[in-house]
Amino acid sequence: MSDNKVQIFDTTLRDGEQVPGCKLNTEQKLVIAERLDLLGVDIIEAGFPVSSPGDFKSVNEIAKIVKNASVCGLTRAVENDIKVAAEALKIAKRPRIHTGIGTSESHIKYKFNSTQEKVIERGVAAVKYAKSFIEDIEFFAEDAGRTDNEFLARVCEAVIKAGATVLNIPDTTGYCLPEEYGAKIKYLKENVKGIHNVVISCHCHNDLGLATANSIAGVMNGARQIECTINGIGERAGNTALEEVVMIMKQHPYLNINTDIDAKLLYDTSLMVSESMGMMVQPNKAIVGANAFAHSSGIHQDGVIKNRETYEIIDPAEVGVTESAIVLTARSGRAALAYRAKKIGYELTKLQLDVVYKDFLSYADRKKEIGDQDIHEMMKSNDLVAV
Ligand code: KIV
Ligand code: ZN
Repeated sequence: MSDNKVQIFDTTLRDGEQVPGCKLNTEQKLVIAERLDLLGVDIIEAGFPVSSPGDFKSVNEIAKIVKNASVCGLTRAVENDIKVAAEALKIAKRPRIHTGIGTSESHIKYKFNSTQEKVIERGVAAVKYAKSFIEDIEFFAEDAGRTDNEFLARVCEAVIKAGATVLNIPDTTGYCLPEEYGAKIKYLKENVKGIHNVVISCHCHNDLGLATANSIAGVMNGARQIECTINGIGERAGNTALEEVVMIMKQHPYLNINTDIDAKLLYDTSLMVSESMGMMVQPNKAIVGANAFAHSSGIHQDGVIKNRETYEIIDPAEVGVTESAIVLTARSGRAALAYRAKKIGYELTKLQLDVVYKDFLSYADRKKEIGDQDIHEMMKSNDLVAV
């Protein structure tokens, strides 16, 4: 793998599906898994096999159909979880077990009533046991974001020795600032023996709206895998949004990092996930929201009509959106009205435009948005016909 490639680990079907009310059946998961494979993700986290017979079945069926990506199953650092995951993944072309344990003070004290040494022992034992079934073992240090760096480095070193191939450093509670998360990755790179032989992974939650920024900070400090979901769905405020990190890397070529994602499929994939989960995408969502390429104020519309790049840093076609939208509201100017009128067949002189624009403003003050039918009516009342 090239040093500049960042692997995309999609967890829409595991962390994403943990969203209340977003449960998918096996058929729906298979359709999404196929799409993720086509999109070019490197790893599909298909589920948590021990959690229910349904999840076992889904992971197993996904393992059968995925052609290119690795298929991964989550486990706790518990032998039975690992055995069940290995069974579910047996048929996968590229199976991966994702096992781990909480490493922060609060997890050790309150979740496990244990000690740091015992947590290391459990992590090591889990990796060794998983390794007896499958070669590719990812270890997660849950709540790494709030774990002391020195202890985290000891955990990482021990699990690498036990055979881990990927180290996941989750900011489970979305607590870290980008600088802090980036510094954590840097610290591990500089202080863990054997770290250069494994891939460091960022798994950031969005409780403070920093999941994407933290993942990018991680990558800029040496991580080479990002764990993310379509539309950023996931526990509480969600996970890092796949479409955001992919487009950040594309839009900033000087970062010199890239992915294998086919960005043209991003918008359709977002729709597919949103529809099958019944989870609406907020209109102002970056990259895939309904307003991501819509312009409604007169100043912006005038700029975009003259040259799209005045107010757009991404060509909508790059992410599979047909075109930028000029939304007509009471804030729109003559340029936008003329543009939209021309699209539906009206070539207006300056004088005609002045007259129609007056009508337009009074329509727009009454309605939130002016549609094509409204324009036809305005034209008709001014005896103007389409050419
Ligand atoms: O957020 C988290 O820590 C997780 C782990 C199970 C990887 O989802
Ligand atoms: Zn998570």
